[in-house]
Amino acid sequence: MSDNKIRAAITAVEAYLPEDVLTNEDLAKMVDTSDEWIMTRVGIRERRILKDPSKGTSYMTTQALKTLMEKNNIDPSEIDGVILSTVSPDMLFPSTACITAHNCGIKDAFCFDMSVGCTGFLYAFKTAALYIESGFCKKMVVLSGEKMSSIINYEDRNTCPLFGDGASAVLVEPRTDGTGLYDAILRADGVGAPYLNLKAGGSLHPASHETVDAKMHYVFQDGKYVFKWAVTKMADVSCEIMERNNLKPEDIAYLLPHQANLRIIDAVANRMGLNREEKVLVNIDHVGNTSSVTIPILMWENLDKLKKGDNLILSSFGAGFTWGSLYLKWSI
Ligand code: UT7
Repeated sequence: MSDNKIRAAITAVEAYLPEDVLTNEDLAKMVDTSDEWIMTRVGIRERRILKDPSKGTSYMTTQALKTLMEKNNIDPSEIDGVILSTVSPDMLFPSTACITAHNCGIKDAFCFDMSVGCTGFLYAFKTAALYIESGFCKKMVVLSGEKMSSIINYEDRNTCPLFGDGASAVLVEPRTDGTGLYDAILRADGVGAPYLNLKAGGSLHPASHETVDAKMHYVFQDGKYVFKWAVTKMADVSCEIMERNNLKPEDIAYLLPHQANLRIIDAVANRMGLNREEKVLVNIDHVGNTSSVTIPILMWENLDKLKKGDNLILSSFGAGFTWGSLYLKWSI
């Protein structure tokens, strides 16, 4: 397997899920919906919610990163850079990456946030990989964190059943043993902006009584339109990455798809020729859509299943629109 090439590898994964569980039964008391509709149309049974209003996204990323550092005996001074993907940062600035790093005693690293919607982990990991492969960094941390419950309107049945809260911390280091990141396809098309957005709170619509009254501080999604794009684009890039790396379905150990809708996951797996029961990791039923955190949570929950050298395909689609697919050989 080894060709002595330096590749960026995921060498440790941690995640943090808040304790409070929001079930479909709970939601059915809040809006006109049912467990049956949510299970058949989306595939979510429950999601985790960070209820404490005094805690933001950095609370969860801090928990995940502290556990990662403790379990792997990492001294804060060893970390060269921190990249954090989120659409629900603590505040517009400073970055949640800076806040989290400070909470964890990291003083000498560069830190920044990336706003890529649900594709955030793929963009952030590929960016970290470039720093590692160039030799500029030896140890990078990729964080993903979302307090989606802080930007969801729990009176809007189109969005409130879909999203959950959570955070992850992934350690990225160089490897020369043939494992690590092999290929990445990252794409975006701003044509998607009107269909999935949060309109107010930025420079275009600063917070005002009017923006609050018009509920412009909440996620808006035209679900049907986004669904069609997600199915097509996730499958396109996943098939493209298989083709250009000569990967047949039998060569792939697992697909780790973004967890937005079980029907999207099924459609992507079908196009790739993968048996969903055997080769596709799924946790949407108990975690829901945690935006850019879904894929690292999948890794964390399946650490026992993933074996060193396994060929993994990561695939996602989100606000922007953004989408992408990564091919890596698992390193742990
Ligand atoms: O993660 C970032 C990217 N996001 C995605 O990939 C999400 C993509 N979109 C989706 O997953 C799906 O479009 C949704 C799950 C958001 C919606 O499912 P859908 O099958 O596309 O439903 P729809 O919006 O077309 O609505 C179908 C019907 C409508 O009723 P009528 O007009 O047919 O009478 C809705 O009003 O279902 C109704 N509906 C609901 N009914 C019960 C919508 N939401 C609900 C609900 N409970 N929560």
